[in-house]
Amino acid sequence: MQLPVLSLLILAFTSVISAQSFLPPALPLITRSPYLNAWSDIRALKPNNWPNFWTSNHTLGWSGFIRVDGDLYEWLGAAMSNPTLKFTLADGKKKDSATVNDVIITPTRTIYIMTAGAVQFNVTFLSPIEPDDVVLQSFPFGYVFVDVNSSDGAAHQVQVYSDLSGEWLAFANNVPIQWETSTSPVIAHSAKMSSQNKLQENSNMAQDATLYHATNPGDGVTWQTGGHYGLRGWFLDHGSLNNTQDTTFRNIEDNFPVFAFSHDLGSLTGAKSFVYAIGLARNPVIRQASGSGSFDLPPYWSTKYKSVDEGLQAFLADADNAKARAIKLDGKIQTDAQKISPPYSDVVSLATRQTLAGVETVVGPSNSIFMFLKDVGSSTRVNPVETLYAAFPTFLYINPTWCQYLLEPLLQYQSSSRYTKSYAAPDLGPSYPAADGEPDANALRSIDDTSAMLIMTWAHARFTGQQGLLNTYYSTLQKWAENLISSNALSPSGGAQSADGLDMNNMTNLAIKGIIGVRSMAEISHTLGKGDDASKYQNQASSWVESWKTQAFSGGHLTATYGASNSWALMYNLYADKLLGMKLVSDDIYDAQDKFYAGQVLSSSKFGLPYDSNAVNSVKSHWTMLTAATTKDTGARDFFIKTVRDKALDSDNFAAFPTSYNSQDGKSISGRASPAQGAVYGLLTLNLESKLAGLSGNSGGSSGSKSNTGAIAGGVVGGLAALALLALGILFYRRRKSDNQPRDYEEGKGTLATFFSRGGNRSGHGSGNALDDYHPEPITMPLATGHSSGFQSQSSYYSPVDPYGGQPGRMSYSTSAGSTSNSGAQMLPLAPLRMHNADNMDYQAPPLPRKGDLARIHGTPSTEDIARHNANSDTLPTSPSVGASSDASQLRFEVENLRREMEEMRSRTMYEPPPQYT
Ligand SMILES: *[C@@H]1O[C@H](CO)[C@@H](O)[C@H](O)[C@H]1NC(C)=O
Ligand SMILES: *[C@@H]1O[C@H](CO)[C@@H](O)[C@H](O)[C@H]1NC(C)=O
Ligand SMILES: *[C@@H]1O[C@H](CO)[C@@H](O)[C@H](O)[C@H]1NC(C)=O
Ligand SMILES: *[C@@H]1O[C@H](CO)[C@@H](O)[C@H](O)[C@H]1NC(C)=O
Ligand SMILES: *[C@@H]1O[C@H](CO)[C@@H](O)[C@H](O)[C@H]1NC(C)=O
Repeated sequence: MQLPVLSLLILAFTSVISAQSFLPPALPLITRSPYLNAWSDIRALKPNNWPNFWTSNHTLGWSGFIRVDGDLYEWLGAAMSNPTLKFTLADGKKKDSATVNDVIITPTRTIYIMTAGAVQFNVTFLSPIEPDDVVLQSFPFGYVFVDVNSSDGAAHQVQVYSDLSGEWLAFANNVPIQWETSTSPVIAHSAKMSSQNKLQENSNMAQDATLYHATNPGDGVTWQTGGHYGLRGWFLDHGSLNNTQDTTFRNIEDNFPVFAFSHDLGSLTGAKSFVYAIGLARNPVIRQASGSGSFDLPPYWSTKYKSVDEGLQAFLADADNAKARAIKLDGKIQTDAQKISPPYSDVVSLATRQTLAGVETVVGPSNSIFMFLKDVGSSTRVNPVETLYAAFPTFLYINPTWCQYLLEPLLQYQSSSRYTKSYAAPDLGPSYPAADGEPDANALRSIDDTSAMLIMTWAHARFTGQQGLLNTYYSTLQKWAENLISSNALSPSGGAQSADGLDMNNMTNLAIKGIIGVRSMAEISHTLGKGDDASKYQNQASSWVESWKTQAFSGGHLTATYGASNSWALMYNLYADKLLGMKLVSDDIYDAQDKFYAGQVLSSSKFGLPYDSNAVNSVKSHWTMLTAATTKDTGARDFFIKTVRDKALDSDNFAAFPTSYNSQDGKSISGRASPAQGAVYGLLTLNLESKLAGLSGNSGGSSGSKSNTGAIAGGVVGGLAALALLALGILFYRRRKSDNQPRDYEEGKGTLATFFSRGGNRSGHGSGNALDDYHPEPITMPLATGHSSGFQSQSSYYSPVDPYGGQPGRMSYSTSAGSTSNSGAQMLPLAPLRMHNADNMDYQAPPLPRKGDLARIHGTPSTEDIARHNANSDTLPTSPSVGASSDASQLRFEVENLRREMEEMRSRTMYEPPPQYT
């Protein structure tokens, strides 16, 4: 047991890297807008399926071939198996689909790693995310990079083909289209419906879009437009195209016109690359109603480029840089996400693109930037508030300034004379892309939407430091806060109580959202120096929350509705309390709720817990992920993540990563490709640094008020267990010393000394930060043995991916040497160790610490405590390389290890291995 825990881990980790295992049935290919949203069905592990629109009821003709010394392989689409496609297979040559060896999914890219005979080639579908450049972000274009290499070093004749059909332009295939090709400075095919319907869609597809398929000219590059059988057959026979246009415009399905390229790479001995751009452009993008009328808003890229052609040329010229930026952004996101866990990183990687693809960026009034979000997957509503609320964490993480672009269209319309209600509307209209407003918004969802608007508006200000929205829309925001008070958001009922499709009185989760909404108004007033308003709303929120506690907490947990002690719900709105550092809800409630979740997940169905006990079998991944961000119980948190990942991998129910599905069989209910999936970023936003002091200080809710009786009682019991652990730790420590083994955990930046000192030199982010309790554990440890299948075993979920991360702002544990005035040091010497609820365990084991306790132990033992223990035992040998505090640190580390090993025993009983692809 005293085995080099870390070495085991490293072993486990290595096996993860070699076994790529996250392969959802629906893969995002290019997703950059609600309309440019192409997915692929990869369940057969073959590329030869037709790509589909996100709805998965409309094929997007997209065909890819590669010829290798006359052998013919298909790398995208299903043309080759159609007997009507005529081509000649020369003697001894073969036709086949390319072999997909691996698929890599990053936040911006889907990469097929393939072989075709003696050629190794990768196709990278890149849907850029450009946090630093709104012009680039507003491009409705994606890249397809093709990297080809001879795998045996010998020379091979290689030609690559790609075409798009008119199916990208309309849901109905009996629609006439027209097209043209320009050949300089880039070769660009474009196609559109002959008769467009401006700002209208049909079955979710735009009726006014122009499709682009472009590449750079060069040696061996040929192009053609024409009937699908003719072009594809010709390429398969000749490895080239004719550089000619088909001028007989016709219906999409009438000898399907396709827009094609061929790249003859010649005699290939090493690596070669080229890139395509694919686009689906519209102008105008949105019709927006404001006080003074309705306006057609152009795409934001039009502020810099006069035409789509010009924009597309710039886009193509920027391909290499765009790829480099994407790799960098992916690296940042994945590094951050891996610190929670690899399964979490998987889910984040899949969810990111679809979240951003729900949004289009346009030129708003007075050349401002507006973003419009379509309720993709659930409805056609414009800027739906509950979806925006779910997706918000992604925007806070990617670039919080963008939150303004999303909120302002809502704020502006509802501050205009066109809107007369005293509460916030649920959206800007039912029919994207027409943001006509909802002048008659009814009150049923008013508490939910009004609270969400106040919370989001405050979150934007808090994390950007920008007060513009607060100033401009203060009276609207205040009107909304007053509405929450007058409609008594504490007891949602009387026709304002609906949320999440549930329509019950006194829903706990909705009530706390209302309270946080009012408290957000207090923060807003405070920020603008309106002290009277601030006190009023702060007092209101404080008194409400006391009342809420007594009504909402029953039977050891928060109930779904007041007084229904057998009911429960995922209290995802507490995420806002955490995000905004309000500490409205006290730790004893959080602790109890954590404990409740930890028990609840043990009886979860395969695809997770319903979001409310009244919503039988109905799981919502976005609320699940926000809930995961509210809990300190890493076991429960990881379980929530696991169930969402399991759904992402659910190959029995093909759907573009939906947000709403049945907990038992995984069948989608709604939310395919929904931007609400952006809630996965909840966990990554808890460390965001506040740019405004707010009522609770920069770090939000400082100076932990842990003086509740529960914690103290727990501390007495737990303290004993902690002492026992500490003693054991000392034992281990000494044994390890005498073994004289190299300790890998001392090496490099991962030393405990650096770990503990990190918090000391951070400014403006004191160790009293409420959020610090919710940091992922620095190293989580499972040990595992027996991951024989080569598949990622449970244990490897917790690999030490740069555990200390070099990430400022993440750790703020006080150093025993450096911290002078850490109020945390007044706390119990060791965090209370509560016993795990052994009733739920099906094995006999010593009492286990709860995962949630692990994180806290770092901050709590003081130098004195350690010294006292040291004095009581033999003097511990001093390590030559680390300073005086290192022994204490190492000791803590041993204690930590022990706890983790015990923890792992617990978690091994909790999990089943994830589904396996073979
Ligand atoms: C394809 O991707 C794999 C994995 O990243 C890489 O090892 C290989 O070199 C790439 N092949 C080409 C031709 O770029
Ligand atoms: C191409 O393949 C050769 C081996 O045939 C290898 O040395 C080289 O690194 C590969 N290049 C890329 C970019 O994959
Ligand atoms: C295709 O799917 C979308 C989204 O589910 C739906 O709105 C549309 O009605 C469907 N169209 C048909 C013809 O089934
Ligand atoms: C390409 O050009 C040749 C020679 O003019 C012609 O016979 C052939 O049909 C053309 N192929 C296609 C697909 O248009
Ligand atoms: C909601 O809760 C309040 C306060 O506890 C109570 O007075 C009221 O009767 C409840 N409303 C309903 C419809 O249950």
